[in-house]
Amino acid sequence: MPKHIIVTLPGDGIGSVVMTQVLRVLAAAGFDAGYVHGDIGWEFWCREGNPLPDRTIELIRKHKVALFGAITSKPNDEARAELDPPLQGKGYTYSSPIVGLRQLFNLDICVRPCKSYKSNPLNFVRRGKGDSLEEPFIDVVIFRQNTECLYSGVEWTSPPEQVYKALMTHPKFMENFGNVPVEELSISTRIFTRRATERILSAAFEHARKFGYKSVTVCEKPNVIRETSGLMWKMAREIQRTLYPEVRLLNTNIDAQMMWLTKNPEDYEVIVAGNMFGDIASDAFAGLIGGLGFACSAQYSSDGIAVFEPTHGSAPKYAGYAIPIVNPVAMIESACMMLDYLEEKEISSRIRKAVAAVIEEGKVRTYDMMRMNGRPEVIQNGAASTIQMTDAIISRILK
Ligand code: NAI
Ligand code: MG
Repeated sequence: MPKHIIVTLPGDGIGSVVMTQVLRVLAAAGFDAGYVHGDIGWEFWCREGNPLPDRTIELIRKHKVALFGAITSKPNDEARAELDPPLQGKGYTYSSPIVGLRQLFNLDICVRPCKSYKSNPLNFVRRGKGDSLEEPFIDVVIFRQNTECLYSGVEWTSPPEQVYKALMTHPKFMENFGNVPVEELSISTRIFTRRATERILSAAFEHARKFGYKSVTVCEKPNVIRETSGLMWKMAREIQRTLYPEVRLLNTNIDAQMMWLTKNPEDYEVIVAGNMFGDIASDAFAGLIGGLGFACSAQYSSDGIAVFEPTHGSAPKYAGYAIPIVNPVAMIESACMMLDYLEEKEISSRIRKAVAAVIEEGKVRTYDMMRMNGRPEVIQNGAASTIQMTDAIISRILK
C-alpha cells in the first residue's frame, strides 16, 4: 500500500502537460504515493454536459488531497455550441469546475507564495541610486479568501423586484441609482462573512508566526469599502491584539499596493485579502518573480480537503505543440506545497533545492525565461522544452 493517495486532476490544455511532468518529479524524489485519476474539464462538459462529474467529486471526498492542472473555461454561448449534438438544447449550463470545486468543498483558504529565485532572468529589477540597478529579494505569501467577495456569484442584471425594493431602502442607492431604469442595472455583490474572514486572517497570522515573518498586511480598501474591507481590517486588529501581538499588522489599500509593488516589494511578507483583491495582489506579486510559469498555489477547506494547483490556466494555444514548451516550475512548486501539507518536508525541500539550482545555473531555461514568444520554434532557438526542464530538475534531485 502506498503511504499517500493523491487524486490527479490534469484537466485541459497545458494542465495535463505539466501534470505528466510533475508526476515524474515526485517519483524521482521518492514520494511514496498512489494516484487516482479524476475526470475534469472541457472534454467532460462536451461529452456529458458536466465539467465536474459526480464521480470526480466522490474521489476527492474520499481521498481528500488533489493535485490539479488547469481547465479551459468559455462563455456560456460558446460552451453550449461545443456540446456534443445529443446534448444540445437540453438546458445544460456551463460553470467553471475549479470555481465549483472551491465552493463545493469550501476551499476557502488560498495560499500563493511568491519568492524570488536566485539568478532568475525574469526577476524584477528597479533603478536605484544614480545609475545603479537593484534586484530586491521578494518573499511574499498571499492569503486570499477563496469563496466569497465578488466571486460569490450573487449577481443580477435587471434585478428582480424584491431585490430592487430592498436596494431602494438604502439611502445611497436611492440617491444615486434610484432613477436608473431597473433593466439598466447590473449588480454584483461583495459578500464577506465573519467566519470566513476570521479563517483567512487566522491562517495568515498563523503562517507568519510559524515561519517567522514579522508582519501581516491586510490589503483591502476599508476607507471606501467600509462594510466588507472594514470588517476584515477590524477583525485583523482584534486577532492581532489578542492572539498575535508579536506580529506587526499593516494596512495597505489595494490600489496603493499596486504602486508599492514596484517601489518596495521587499517590505511585504504575509499579505491577506478578500477574494478579488487577493487575486489581483497574487498575480501582481507573481509578476515580480517570473510570472505564471512560477506561480504556485494551495487551497484548503475547513474539513481536511486540500487542492494544489499552479495559478496559470490551460493556455490552450500551447496545448497542441508536438514538443511542449511551457514552464513546469509552477506545477512542481504546487506539488511541493502538497508535500509540505502531507509532512513530507524532506522530499519537498530536495525538490525545491533542485528547482532553485537549475534556475541559478541557467543552462536550461524554458521560453518564458528567455523572453521569447511562445511559438513552436522556441525549441530550435535554444529554449528548453517542458520535458527538458523537468529532466534537468530530476537530474539535480538524483545527484
Ligand atoms: P493562461 O494562464 O492559460 O495563459 C496566459 C499566458 O500565460 C499564456 O498564453 C502563456 O503566455 C503564459 N503561461 C501560462 N502558463 C505558463 C507556463 N506554465 N509557462 C509559461 N508560460 C505560461 O490564461 P488565459 O490565456 O487567460 O486562459 C486560458 C484558459 O485557461 C481559459 O479558458 C481560462 O478560463 C482558463 N484558466 C483556467 C485557470 C484554472 O484552471 N485554474 C486559471 C486561469 C485561466
Ligand atoms: Mg487570477
